[in-house]
Amino acid sequence: MQILGTGPDDERFAAWCEVWAATQRADRPDELPRPASDHVALGRRLVTPGGAMDGTHRAAVAGDTVVGALRLLLPVLDNTTVAYVDLAVHPEHPRRGIGRALLQQTEELARSAGRSALIAEVDEPGPGAAGHAFALRHGWSCDLQETRRDLLLPVDEERLSALEAEAVAAGAGYEVVTWRDRTPEPLLDDRALLNRRMSTDAPNGDVPVEEEHRDAARGREDEAAHAARGRTVLTGAAVRDGRLVASTALHVPLAQPERAHQGATLVLREHRGHRLAARIKVAVLREVAATLPAVRRISTYGSDSNRPMVAVNEALGFRRAGGLSTWSRRLRP
Ligand code: ACO
Repeated sequence: MQILGTGPDDERFAAWCEVWAATQRADRPDELPRPASDHVALGRRLVTPGGAMDGTHRAAVAGDTVVGALRLLLPVLDNTTVAYVDLAVHPEHPRRGIGRALLQQTEELARSAGRSALIAEVDEPGPGAAGHAFALRHGWSCDLQETRRDLLLPVDEERLSALEAEAVAAGAGYEVVTWRDRTPEPLLDDRALLNRRMSTDAPNGDVPVEEEHRDAARGREDEAAHAARGRTVLTGAAVRDGRLVASTALHVPLAQPERAHQGATLVLREHRGHRLAARIKVAVLREVAATLPAVRRISTYGSDSNRPMVAVNEALGFRRAGGLSTWSRRLRP
């Protein structure tokens, strides 16, 4: 087995993407795996100079077959001591040391990029996920345990109306706005502040990350990246005195709109307690029903310690669907 470089314009990359798809099909057989086009778009972003994130890809190859996949993401504007690791082994080749070999390669690549901490996520549909045992075996520590919750659409209109009425009564003086894809220019700087707060205010357990650098330019870079990945993003937001004080985003892959992904939801600290999170989420759900009726399920991830967010999601009808754990390991210099 050899470990070789690859990337979105390499002939091996389709097989590299297939490792991920096979892993996802094995772990969650009733769901469509992430499309290859998504990996390609992310890969291009990583190798395009001047962006917020650099990165590199490796393929574990046995004979002519790609049996393992590694992607390293290297933040450039903040968290410059950290490398995010995506690592998978084709489920037809388990327990042959391929994962271990890719991990060794990860450490070498991260060190040579000047990184001193590795972070990786493990999808855990239920107990006994291979990634959990694998991370433990290699000395990683579990820094954050999140629950995945899914909402099946359409949501009962009575439930939405009742939640909305309560939220409107609790939030006099706030206006709700929605948009698709491009944040209106006058709200762009405020949106960057919300994204910055998201990196510090959402429960992050012991994951070794610092506040993210967010500004208008990075906001536009993210929007271009979502479009390149074939995603449309619906945003609901609350405005007071012309300033954005809360937002929530929903990502819909246009090639597979059945399953949408909840993005960041945040209410600025000084505006909490007015049911704004529920109100803007209801606004987005109405927008989805009107403009993207093919969406059948929304998945969201969050810590159970985040009681206000969990309460909103459960009131909307989200139900538990497994978990996601985040792991880290410090590298010795
Ligand atoms: N159950 C229990 N222990 C396991 C399992 C498992 N299913 N898989 C790996 N391990 C542990 C064992 O200690 C194993 O050593 P052993 O086989 O000698 O007992 C050791 O990890 C090394 O295993 P490898 O053979 O190198 O692992 P493999 O090539 O099968 O890949 C991986 C494991 C990457 C977890 C694979 O199952 C996978 O792709 N899962 C889905 C994606 C994922 O979870 N990625 C890991 C993220 S965590 C991280 O990157 C640090």
